[in-house]
Amino acid sequence: MSLSNVAPKDQFHKKRRVFHATATSPYITLPPPCSTLSVLSSQLPTKSEARKRKMQSLQQKASEWSGVDPNDAFAIDETNLFEKLGLQTFINLSTNFYNRVYDDEEEWFRSIFSNSSKEDAIRNQYEFFVQRMGGPNLYSQRKGDTALISRHRTFPVTHKAAERWLHHMQQALDSAADIDEDSKTRMKKFFRHTAFFLVAGVELKNQNKGTGCKNCSHH
Ligand code: HEM
Repeated sequence: MSLSNVAPKDQFHKKRRVFHATATSPYITLPPPCSTLSVLSSQLPTKSEARKRKMQSLQQKASEWSGVDPNDAFAIDETNLFEKLGLQTFINLSTNFYNRVYDDEEEWFRSIFSNSSKEDAIRNQYEFFVQRMGGPNLYSQRKGDTALISRHRTFPVTHKAAERWLHHMQQALDSAADIDEDSKTRMKKFFRHTAFFLVAGVELKNQNKGTGCKNCSHH
C-alpha cells in the first residue's frame, strides 16, 4: 500500500473523526468494517442524549442537596400562579427580595450583586418568575433564552450562597400579604430546588471549563 493510496481515505476519516493517520503509523488508515463503525457510533451518545443525561444528573443533585422532591418542586406547574396572583404581586415579591439582598449585612453575599443595579435585578427576576409561572414570556422577549445556569456561571453560586439567597426569599415570601399560603409553599419548594440546581450546574460548568468537556454527564 502506498501513501498516496491512503491519502483520500485519510482525509475521509479525518472528517468523520473516527481514525486519523499519525506520522508514525500511516497504516491504520484502512477503514474499519461497516459493522465496527456502526457499533462505535451506536455507543456514542448523541448531543441531545448527553444533554438529557446531564440535566437528569443535575436534577438528582438538586433534589439531594435541597431535600425537595422533584414532584414538590414542580408543583408550581399544577396551577397557574400568574393568573392567580397577577403581575403586581411578582413585582412586589422581587422588589421585597432585592431590597433585602442589597441591604444584606453579610457583605460577602451583598457583593455578589455589586455589578447589577437593583432596578435591573428586580426586573430580570420578576419577568423570569412571571414567564416560568404561567404568564407571558416577558423575560425571553427581552433577553432571549433563560439559560439560568449559564447566566449564573460567573457568580459564586455555592451551597452557602444558595442558603443565603433562600433566606431572603423566604423572608420576602413570609412578609407578602398578597400571596396565599398554598402559593407560598409551592414557590418555596421550587426556589429551593432551583437554587441547588444552579449550585450543581455552575459547579459542573466550572469543572468542564478546565477539561474542555462540554457534554460531560458523569458529575
Ligand atoms: C443560589 C443562589 C443564587 C445566587 C447567588 C444568584 C445570584 C444572581 C446574581 C448575582 C444575578 C445578577 C443580577 C441581575 O443582574 O439580574 C442573578 C440573576 C438572576 N437570577 Fe440568580 N442567584 C441565585 C439563585 C437564583 C434562583 C433560585 C433563581 C430562580 C428561581 C434565580 C434567577 C435569576 C434570574 C432570572 C436572573 C436574571 C439573569 C439575567 O437576566 O442575566 N437565581 N442571580
